[in-house]
Amino acid sequence: MLQQTKPPYLDTMYCSFSNSLSLLLLLLILPLSSSIPSVSNSNAHHSTNTINMVPSEAETLFTIMESMSSDQTWRVSFPKPCQPGQTWPGIECKLGADNHLHVSRLDFGNHPNPSCKRTATFPSEISALPHLQSVFFFNCFTHTKTSFSVSRASNASSLQQLSLRSNPALVGPIPPQISSLKSLEILTLSQNRLTGKIPPEVFSLSSLVHLDLSYNMLTGTIPVQLGSLRNLQGLDLSYNMLTGSIPNSIGELVLLQKVDFSSNLLSGGIPEGIHQLSLLNFLALSNNKLHGQFPKGLEKLQSLQYLILDGNPMNITLPLELGKLVKLQELRLADSGYSGTIPESFSQLKNLSTLSLQNNRLTGEIPLGFGSLSHIYHLNLSRNMLGGVVPFNPSFLSRLGRNLDLSGNPGLCLSPSEAHILKIGVNVCGTNGNGSAILPLKNSQASSGLSKPFFLLTPALCVLGLHQILFLV
Ligand SMILES: *[C@@H]1O[C@H](CO)[C@@H](O)[C@H](O)[C@H]1NC(C)=O
Ligand SMILES: *[C@@H]1O[C@H](CO)[C@@H](O)[C@H](O)[C@H]1NC(C)=O
Ligand SMILES: *[C@@H]1O[C@H](CO)[C@@H](O)[C@H](O)[C@H]1NC(C)=O
Ligand SMILES: *[C@@H]1O[C@H](CO)[C@@H](O)[C@H](O)[C@H]1NC(C)=O
Ligand SMILES: *[C@@H]1O[C@H](CO)[C@@H](O)[C@H](O)[C@H]1NC(C)=O
Repeated sequence: MLQQTKPPYLDTMYCSFSNSLSLLLLLLILPLSSSIPSVSNSNAHHSTNTINMVPSEAETLFTIMESMSSDQTWRVSFPKPCQPGQTWPGIECKLGADNHLHVSRLDFGNHPNPSCKRTATFPSEISALPHLQSVFFFNCFTHTKTSFSVSRASNASSLQQLSLRSNPALVGPIPPQISSLKSLEILTLSQNRLTGKIPPEVFSLSSLVHLDLSYNMLTGTIPVQLGSLRNLQGLDLSYNMLTGSIPNSIGELVLLQKVDFSSNLLSGGIPEGIHQLSLLNFLALSNNKLHGQFPKGLEKLQSLQYLILDGNPMNITLPLELGKLVKLQELRLADSGYSGTIPESFSQLKNLSTLSLQNNRLTGEIPLGFGSLSHIYHLNLSRNMLGGVVPFNPSFLSRLGRNLDLSGNPGLCLSPSEAHILKIGVNVCGTNGNGSAILPLKNSQASSGLSKPFFLLTPALCVLGLHQILFLV
């Protein structure tokens, strides 16, 4: 099997080895070299006798293992943790320029990687592994309270990805010393119990591409230093207790594609600067205390596909400009005190699949064009003050089915020709849901109902109808 999979350079190397010990070592390296590209031909050309771990690094690794996991007696079962054929799951090693094997990746908590013991605490020793590039601790610190620490000696750290996720016993603040992890590109501290303010030092990590501090108990404001993370593409601070306003400096992060600040206590308006984020495709600010006008230049957010703003006391009319964000797939503006009519411009959002406008104070009619939103499958307009005839044809109504909610709009009614379709929380025009009284069909929107015998009713009922028309308009 080995013979079949041997890489082309093996023959060359084989010739240069004079004793069988070297050959044995070479064969041991082989499985490693196939999974880790960095073990290159030129490195392996040097004497293989030196390919080993630096003893102090191995010792650091054992210390970390012993503090984290009791799956094995690691020292005994894996005395040479980086050695090909002996590596434990959850570890990756790379051959360094010094011709030693170095730990490059640690991954705990996620099967098949080592599980963490109840008494696992955060191993600050990871800062002392200078070749470590990625660390994943998932569902690791669950019982013994421990805090996230970074030693000052980590200046030379090559850590690019640090992911501490779903650790209910990881408490305390984010240490300011985190700024020494200068190579960090991905920092995920989601779903822990971190408290305190976000240290401004986080924003000195200028290589950061993704920053996720979501689902903690962080307080204080979002530091204005945020604007210095010029490489940032994803920013998630959702589900914390952050206060104050969103810094306008967010507009300087021109590579941002995803921003999630939802479920905090943020106040003030949506910052003006945000219109510069032309690559932004996901913006969630829902369940905060944001209010007031939308920023000018909103229509410049031409990459936006998801705009999630529900649950803010906006108390304004809906901006027409939203209708220019033609890539929108999801637009959520529920529970936000919006008043006035639904702009007809929203009908231009041809890619819209979800529109949530429920529980506002919207008046007027449902825009005619909504009936031709061909991608829509979830439309919630419930609990507003909308009126008139529902402008949807039978195929639209049956396509949305239960995902259409028009309830709680006493002034809305459904053309009799569509009445058989389903319950969408709206009476049929011409009845009060009881079959006893007659309400009108109204204007051209109800054209499909025009031929119905309904219009041949007595003059008295027509008077009632006229009153209803006046009431609705
Ligand atoms: C780390 O870097 C900082 C600033 O670059 C320097 O002041 C400090 O002495 C360095 N620490 C170590 C342990 O090298
Ligand atoms: C928004 O309107 C609601 C209902 O009228 C009111 O209770 C609330 O105080 C208003 N909020 C703001 C921020 O204006
Ligand atoms: C709408 O979505 C389709 C497929 O998801 C995509 O190909 C098309 O470019 C989108 N249209 C706009 C205007 O973004
Ligand atoms: C529409 O919104 C209301 C209020 O939030 C909610 O109770 C209802 O389930 C929603 N309807 C649909 C179809 O999603
Ligand atoms: C149905 O009709 C009865 C009497 O005809 C009336 O008392 C009742 O309020 C009506 N129900 C509704 C939902 O309008």
